Formats: sequence, C-alpha cells, structure tokens
Amino acid sequence: MHEYDLIADWYAAHRAGPMGVPEVTALAASLPPGARVLDVGCGTGLPLTRVLLEHGCHVVGVDSSRELLARFQANFPHVPVVCAPIQSTALQERAFDAAISWGVLFHLRHEEQEQAIAHIARALRPGAPFLFTSGDAHGSTEGAPMNGVPFRYHSYSADGYRDLLRAHGLTLEATHQDPGGNVYYLSRKTG
Ligand SMILES: C[S@@+](CC[C@H](N)C(=O)[O-])C[C@H]1O[C@@H](n2cnc3c(N)ncnc32)[C@H](O)[C@@H]1O
Repeated sequence: MHEYDLIADWYAAHRAGPMGVPEVTALAASLPPGARVLDVGCGTGLPLTRVLLEHGCHVVGVDSSRELLARFQANFPHVPVVCAPIQSTALQERAFDAAISWGVLFHLRHEEQEQAIAHIARALRPGAPFLFTSGDAHGSTEGAPMNGVPFRYHSYSADGYRDLLRAHGLTLEATHQDPGGNVYYLSRKTG
C-alpha cells in the first residue's frame, strides 16, 4: 500500500505514545541475548524497533512504504531493511527467533493476511513467538481518514486468527486489548 507514503511526516509526528511498548518489551525480555527479530511494517521504528534494539536484539525491518523506511533508516542507520509488501516477500526460512507486526495486518485484505502469515511463519524458528495486532471481528470497514487519506481495515475474528495461525504452524497463546483498542495476538511457532 502507498497510503503511508502520502502521510509519512504526519504519521511520524502522530505515532504518539507508548502503544505496543509494554507488549514488545515483555516479548523482547523473553528472548535469548542477540535474538534475530523480524519487525513487519516497522514504520519509522519508533517506538517499537527501538525497544527491541535496547534489549540487544538484531532486527530486520520490513515495510512497503519507502517514505517511512527512509525515516527508519535515518533513525537506525545500521538496521537492515526490506522495502516490500510482506505478503509478497519470501524471507529466509527459519531465520528469526521472533517477529512482531504492530498495526499492519489489518491493512491487508483477508487473502493477503493469510499470505503474510504464511511468509512470517516460514521465517520463524521452532518455538519463536509472533506478536501482532489486528481487530477481532471478521469483516472489512472504511476507517477514519488519516491526514485526509482514506484507509480500509480488514480483520478476522479471534477464532479466525487462531485457525489461520494453526494452518501455518503457529499456536495462538494469548490475546488482549490495550486501552487504545488494539487487539494483541501472541502466537508461537510449533514443531
Ligand atoms: C500503523 S503503521 C505501524 C508502523 C509501526 N509498526 C509502528 O508501530 O508505528 C502501519 C505500517 O505498516 C506498513 N505496511 C502496510 N502494509 C504493508 C505491507 N503489506 N507490508 C509491509 N508493510 C506494510 C505501513 O507502511 C506502515 O509503516
């Protein structure tokens, strides 16, 4: 999607507050030292990639927005990035100890989310966690525009995500909602 290229400065300025920080901090604290972590839809990297780096993780960022990745690279010049949509990005198999994706999957149509989850699952080592946010009611909706740019949102139900994750070798371990209404799915690669 190119919508984030249109609002990159606005998003960078308005990605306010610590949303996702407690969850990503807990995830990072559970990982072995020097863990390799995939940050899908990393945006500018603030604040969440920074949390991972502060915990000593080796991060690879993936994002489809050139504009946001330019800001990410200004923030974290030594962190490798891939500029591509995750649903059409073949990642190295079993290369990562964890993956996060905050505020991303719900931008993808349902079939694209399945492709994205398949790619992320293949890239994880057995036992690796995958933490992401989305909605928890099946459907597609027009959201409030961000800085005048319209965005659509697509979600599975929580049971739908559980089934989708299982189909790709991931077990859903926990869900919760933060005060901002973001629904978190903590899953783990089995096998
Ligand atoms: C709401 S922002 C979240 C950014 C970052 N995770 C954060 O916590 O601020 C959504 C991000 O997902 C990226 N994105 C949207 N669709 C994507 C796709 N198909 N593949 C990779 N990144 C995508 C956008 O460019 C944007 O950076």
